Amino acid sequence: MLNVRAVDQYYGGSHALRGIDLEVPAGSCTALLGRNGVGKTTLLRSLMGELPVRSGAVIFDGEDVTRLPSWQRARRGMGYVPQGREIFPRLTVAENLAVGESAARGPCAPLGELEELFPILRTMRNRRGGDLSGGQQQQLAIARALVSRPRLLLLDEPTEGIQPSTIKEIGRVLRTLLQKKITIVLVEQYLEFALELAEHYAILSRGEIVMRGKITELDAAQARRHLAL
Ligand SMILES: Nc1ncnc2c1ncn2[C@@H]1O[C@H](COP(=O)(O)OP(=O)(O)OP(=O)(O)O)[C@@H](O)[C@H]1O
Ligand SMILES: [Mg+2]
Repeated sequence: MLNVRAVDQYYGGSHALRGIDLEVPAGSCTALLGRNGVGKTTLLRSLMGELPVRSGAVIFDGEDVTRLPSWQRARRGMGYVPQGREIFPRLTVAENLAVGESAARGPCAPLGELEELFPILRTMRNRRGGDLSGGQQQQLAIARALVSRPRLLLLDEPTEGIQPSTIKEIGRVLRTLLQKKITIVLVEQYLEFALELAEHYAILSRGEIVMRGKITELDAAQARRHLAL
C-alpha cells in the first residue's frame, strides 16, 4: 500500500532521517515507535508531503507521490492526524469537520457516520474546538481526517497527554477502522497501545530504523531499550 524507499530528510544541516525503507501492508496497522526527537513526526510529515524529501521515494498504491504536494496526496486517499491535533480553536466542532472536506476527491463521510464513531462529537457539535478537552480534540482530529474517507491514515501519537478512558475509546475506533480495511500508520510512545493494534512495527532511533518486524515477534525487552529514556 505504502512503500518508502531510501528516504533522507534534513533540517538545514541536520540529518533528521537516514535511509528510511518501510513497507506498509494494506489493511493492517504498522506502528512507528521511538523516543522523543528520533524523527517520527518528521517521517510522517515527509510521507504526507508537508516536508519535501531530500532524496528517496514515497510510493502510494503503486504511484510515485514523492513530488506531489500534500493536498494531492490527500486526494489520493492519504489522511493525516498531526501530533498536537491542530484543531482550529475558534471554529466549532462541525466547522472543524467541514475543513476535512477539502481533502476529498469523492463523496465525504456524512456527519452522522462520524458521530456514530465518536458519539462525544454529536453532543459537542456547536462547541468551539478550543473549548474541548485534549481527548475530545484528539477524537475531533481523527474524525476530521476521516471526512475525506482516506484509505491510509497516518496518526501521530494519538494517546499523548490523554486520559485512559479516552485512550480506550480511540483504540476502539481504530479497531473499527481496521475492520473496514483502512490501513493505519501509528506513531506511538505508548507501547501497550501500539501492541494491541499493530501487526507490524518499526523502531526509529536517531533518524534510522533500528528494529522492525511483526508485532508477534517483537522482543519487548530489546524494544524497550530503544523506547525508554
Ligand atoms: N522544523 C524543524 N526545524 C529544525 N529541526 C527540527 C524541526 N522539527 C524537528 N526538528 C528536529 O528533528 C529531530 C526529529 O524531530 P521529530 O519531531 O521528527 O521527532 P519525534 O520522534 O516526532 O519526537 P517526539 O516524540 O518528541 O514527537 C529532532 O532533533 C528535532 O529537534
Ligand atoms: Mg513527534
